[in-house]
Amino acid sequence: MITIRPARAEDAEALPGIEQSAGEAFRAIAELAWLADGDNVSVERHRALIAAGACWVAADGRGRPVGFLSAGIESDALHIWELDVRLDRQGQGIGRALLERAVADARQRGLAGVTLTTFRAVAWNAPFYRKSGFRILEGIEIDDRLASLLADEAEHGMALDQRCAMRLDFSRADTR
Ligand SMILES: CC(C)(COP(=O)(O)OP(=O)(O)OC[C@H]1O[C@@H](n2cnc3c(N)ncnc32)[C@H](O)[C@@H]1OP(=O)(O)O)[C@@H](O)C(=O)NCCC(=O)NCCS
Repeated sequence: MITIRPARAEDAEALPGIEQSAGEAFRAIAELAWLADGDNVSVERHRALIAAGACWVAADGRGRPVGFLSAGIESDALHIWELDVRLDRQGQGIGRALLERAVADARQRGLAGVTLTTFRAVAWNAPFYRKSGFRILEGIEIDDRLASLLADEAEHGMALDQRCAMRLDFSRADTR
């Protein structure tokens, strides 16, 4: 049984291992396989994100995290920094449950929406978020904050034309 709950300080040490395992999924895509060997978010950064109060874990029957979503409030939106589910637990609805929890939290906080950056063409990236109502932003819809994140990612080797910024806008009629 999987339970989605707010992350606790003591969960932080498990999260880099989950990110590492989740990233193994990219080995299936030759040109993105290098991502599986990239650095993971540090335990210190996880501690800070958890303390800021917008990080959730999916815990197994023994309370151990098998997935997490970490986010933070950035201007009018909740911005998702990381969403990872351990490789052996992927495809079982855990990622969607974590995303739904974060979206519900953003609504409750009275924020205007939820943002993130991701790969346009990877099945478990933009197409996955689109199913939950997120829209790819294009051109002038990409504000300075998101543009600067995309630029940072390009510096870290992620081709700009393969990445995109997405937003779930609570004020739009097309969102649930
Ligand atoms: C993205 C991720 C968190 C999704 O979590 P998950 O628990 O595997 O996803 P779910 O089981 O909730 O599936 C939700 C949707 O994701 C898509 N999806 C998930 N895994 C997929 C796969 N291997 N291939 C194709 N689509 C996939 C499907 O669209 C699925 O929708 P469906 O149930 O209607 O078919 C997980 O795949 C992961 O950790 N991936 C590696 C890290 C990553 O890319 N994180 C996101 C960075 S922006």
